[in-house]
Amino acid sequence: MTPEQLAGFRSLFPVTRRYVYLNHASNGPLALPVVEAMNGYIQRCSLHGEVPYPEAEAVVEDCREMAARLMGVLASEIAFVKNVSAGAIIAIGSIEWQHGDNMILMRDAFPTNVYPFDYLLPHVEKRYVTSTELAKGSECVFTLVDRHTRAIAIDWVHFLSGMKADVIAIATFCRTRAIHILLDVMQGLGAVNQSFGELGIDFAYAGAGKWLLGPQGSGILYVNSAILPKLKPANLGWLSAKWDDFNDIYTRKPLKPGASRYEEGTKNYIGIYGLRESLRILLDAGMSEVAARVRMLTQLLRQRLEEKGFELMTPVDPQRHAGIITASRPGVDMAALFARLKEQGFICSLRENRLRIAPHFYNTEEEIERFCTALPARQEKGSGQNPCAVRQGPSRPTREPLNP
Ligand SMILES: Cc1ncc(COP(=O)(O)O)c(C=O)c1O
Repeated sequence: MTPEQLAGFRSLFPVTRRYVYLNHASNGPLALPVVEAMNGYIQRCSLHGEVPYPEAEAVVEDCREMAARLMGVLASEIAFVKNVSAGAIIAIGSIEWQHGDNMILMRDAFPTNVYPFDYLLPHVEKRYVTSTELAKGSECVFTLVDRHTRAIAIDWVHFLSGMKADVIAIATFCRTRAIHILLDVMQGLGAVNQSFGELGIDFAYAGAGKWLLGPQGSGILYVNSAILPKLKPANLGWLSAKWDDFNDIYTRKPLKPGASRYEEGTKNYIGIYGLRESLRILLDAGMSEVAARVRMLTQLLRQRLEEKGFELMTPVDPQRHAGIITASRPGVDMAALFARLKEQGFICSLRENRLRIAPHFYNTEEEIERFCTALPARQEKGSGQNPCAVRQGPSRPTREPLNP
């Protein structure tokens, strides 16, 4: 990407005028074309009462094709969902679970990948790996597998440490075994260039509102076409069947052949209009370019943080992380540092008393340097007061309200 091209993409993000925004693991800021597309839809509904259904559906299909291109899969393998949880719930509901089945989960997964499995599958035995184990390789998964293992459901990129699981190794291991792989790609899709069609996993789900730079309340579910005909009906409604017009509403139609059968009713058109534009930005920039820039910026960040004495929670191997770098420094009050950075216009997250820093492709090296310059200098003995030194006395609250 040339500097001119980068400047062009940056100019689409008003957030860059006010902040050094390094918080994509929490919220992706909306670019101007995303806002314009959603405003345009809203305005038309306001002025004309509606956007004609065929026109809105054409936008949906265009967006589906873009999502498929971004993921390296077929458009017929994409369904639009409202969030990651919806994707996980559909996957759970469509698998033929058998008596005596077990499955493998991440003990420290984001709660999206805990609750539905616990409550919807109480009779399926759960076996657990941790993100720390997965950072060392996929053996921890393989050793838990036996002939009753029906599924493996993990976070591709861990929301806290940023660890990226070796899903290629896991998918290769499962290829000859009848094990479903369910992947939460929320913290990776839009930051990592991965062809899911080649991977051979069964389900992948992401919300639009982080690395995809789209609006919250819209998301993408990928269902492998090779398993789709073998799945149980789940999340089915009237729009799971092909609908033509209101003159023929009572004729029972067959289910749609592709993943769009999981779109049970009226869609979040506003969200999909916005998501189409954010996907267009990523595709125009090129996912390999986007991923290369994310990699370069996180490498720079990692290096500068280490120079300043920060301890990284994120695996150092660039193969084992994506866009998240999480770090803390002994002796520094991280909550105070986080608050000071925010006041200065540096936006990241405070998670478990660490800074979680998550740059996207339109961030610059200069922004990373400025962010790191704002961090407290390495403390030499007797060199005076560190403004964020840990205070004596009762500890400060370290958790902000959960805005994951
Ligand atoms: C890994 C991961 N999965 C899922 C979610 C959110 O799930 P949902 O879209 O269902 O709220 C988050 C954070 O918001 C996350 O970090």
